[in-house]
Amino acid sequence: MPLKITPPAGTRTIAGRTLGRGLGAVERTAKQGVRWALGHGIPRTVIIRSSRKGDLQGDLILSGPGSHTFDLVDLFEELRSRGPLYRGGFSHVATDHEVIKEVLTSNDFVTGFFAPDESGTGVLSRAAMWSATDVFAPLQPPSLLATEPPEHTRYRKLVTRVFTVRAVERLRARTEEIARELLDDLEKKAASGADVDLVSGYCGLLPITVISEVLGVPVELRERMLELGKGAALSLDIGLEWRTFREMESSLEAFDTWLRGHLEYLAEHPGDDLLSQLVALRDDGDRLSEKELRSVAGLVFAAGFETTVNLIGNGIALLHDNPEQLAVLKAQPDLWSNASDEILRLDPPVLLTGRVARRDSTIAGQPIPRGTIINTVLAAANRDPAVFTDPDTFDVTRENARDHLSFSSGRHFCLGAALARMEGEIGLRLLFERFPDLKIVGERKRHPTRILRGYSQLRARLS
Ligand code: HEM
Repeated sequence: MPLKITPPAGTRTIAGRTLGRGLGAVERTAKQGVRWALGHGIPRTVIIRSSRKGDLQGDLILSGPGSHTFDLVDLFEELRSRGPLYRGGFSHVATDHEVIKEVLTSNDFVTGFFAPDESGTGVLSRAAMWSATDVFAPLQPPSLLATEPPEHTRYRKLVTRVFTVRAVERLRARTEEIARELLDDLEKKAASGADVDLVSGYCGLLPITVISEVLGVPVELRERMLELGKGAALSLDIGLEWRTFREMESSLEAFDTWLRGHLEYLAEHPGDDLLSQLVALRDDGDRLSEKELRSVAGLVFAAGFETTVNLIGNGIALLHDNPEQLAVLKAQPDLWSNASDEILRLDPPVLLTGRVARRDSTIAGQPIPRGTIINTVLAAANRDPAVFTDPDTFDVTRENARDHLSFSSGRHFCLGAALARMEGEIGLRLLFERFPDLKIVGERKRHPTRILRGYSQLRARLS
């Protein structure tokens, strides 16, 4: 088993930092600088400048790290009051459920900031291509999140061949077993009367243990993977400062190095896991290149634990703060699955996503020129009063809770939605069944990420 994270042969390391094979340090830093400028420095400058002129977008995209989705509700309403499509200095912002669905399902809108320039002749596209690295990054091609048909269709078809609803259902019993083991550990820790942190002791561990088993990743690596995931999660944010950006890229690099070794190992020693099946599919006529396989596998693994932790954590806080809803679930346990969707609706782990117009188009009656970026605020769509009655109320019996857009919509609809729902439901139900009187104590801390939303610490007294 490749337990150690060692750089691949031929990679140079200086003062503990890994350098790309054959790339001079100067060129490497220059490329990193361009990547930062394109994805963070330029957008950040534009957003801050237009914020000074009253643009609401800055409050949304650069909102204080660690802020809570609930802190943004007034902003959603302010944006909504300006019409279905707000025109910001950097991009348009959609808060309307129908409009967001239209953008996400349209063929006129694609993922990736530089996608409209398909010929690759524009300055920004050329700069993006020149500075691209071979390291896995969730928002860089060939990641599923950054590709479009025909490549996207091909990758997605391969993953769904192994990641079926039936495969997820088979995991239900195992997920319950893992949750019970984690709860036993919590109970032991709490026996002395000490408070426990539910994020590091439960919400964080459940999804990574499940996805590690699914993908054949040794469970011993889970603490290290969680640490790398924490750094890599920032890669979804826009406008990172240079230092944070470099730390984030170091985490991605370390993750990528481990992933290369792990895939090589599985190719030689296939197991009974989904990742081994995916590796084997490469020889099935529809071959994925090594880079494509690394990207697909890396995304499924990272998305598998970086988001669901927030569903469970946000759910614990909501149920703790609304004991009458917990009482409803106690009386009608068959509502747990709906409760998991209501939590996803009201406090979604992913704040927003974005698309670019690849041709001139029209949305909500407004002409949208090619190249326009639209930020689709999933958390705002989930509170659209045209779709959800009393949208700010937490109601586990809500009939259309499942109509939220927290898993996106269209071609990029979350591939792990069934798994996440199942883990959310089981994780929350078993926790509150075991500790019905749990009390959150002390300060609730939040992750520093802006797009991914959730708690980094939830201390609780269990009895
Ligand atoms: C509560 C937990 C989760 C939430 C809220 C969530 C949310 C999302 C969202 C919003 C997208 C689409 C982004 C876009 O349209 O630009 C997405 C895509 C994706 N998710 Fe999830 N996710 C969750 C759990 C998972 C899990 C457990 C897995 C893996 C097992 C996973 C794997 C993926 C993959 C592979 C994609 C890319 C799909 C594509 O582009 O075709 N997700 N997720």
